[in-house]
Amino acid sequence: MQSKSHRLDRFISQHCAIKRADVRLLLAQGRVLLNGVVARDINQLVQAFDEVLFDGQILQAKQARYLMLHKPVGVVSATRDDEHKTVLDLLPEDLRADLHIAGRLDLNSSGLLLLSNDGRWSRCLSAPEHKVPKIYQVTLQNPLTEEYAPAFAAGMYFAYEDITTAPAQLRMLSEYVAEVILSEGKYHQIKRMFGRFRNPVLALHRSAIGEIVLDANLAPGEFRELNNREINSIWGS
Ligand code: URA
Repeated sequence: MQSKSHRLDRFISQHCAIKRADVRLLLAQGRVLLNGVVARDINQLVQAFDEVLFDGQILQAKQARYLMLHKPVGVVSATRDDEHKTVLDLLPEDLRADLHIAGRLDLNSSGLLLLSNDGRWSRCLSAPEHKVPKIYQVTLQNPLTEEYAPAFAAGMYFAYEDITTAPAQLRMLSEYVAEVILSEGKYHQIKRMFGRFRNPVLALHRSAIGEIVLDANLAPGEFRELNNREINSIWGS
């Protein structure tokens, strides 16, 4: 996952194999355009999705991509896998380049998966301090009881990683189905939390990540681009 920023003089110097001292002159001559505007300041930062032209030639013009995918059960949340179909295999080839997954789901989980080529955006989404809530519907093998919600809210200690889970909300939707809201994503977290009650998870479906809700028009395996409101909801989180 990249998307670093570079100082303009270093960027031009690296892309055109020109000494940094000479880049100053080019900038002074107004030969570089950054997002359509003449760039003269060597200290300006070039971000991953800025358009940079030098003497009319494109040095960088890459489109940021943000997708939601309805992940089906049985497809792996990875960009490659020797055994299973991956979520990238569900996308047309021309869309796949540079995409990474922002928040995985287990092989046998389904629901909302976000993919992007913008590392800054994905880091913002998963930064622990932003506590972006993720909403899951969980179907259990055994009936739920009143003991579950307080235990999820109190947090559970996982000795293997030596961590206590952050407070999570659990609401009983029916005898065997719970809605769980997590603000973090530890390894197999939901299955392990229900494991404390010796209650196996039969089905796990993610319906929302922050304000981004899985589009009801998307069948399992289908995807769409996020709209501006959805993209910006993560920047503002
Ligand atoms: N917790 C799990 O156990 N699995 C998932 O896929 C997501 C959260």
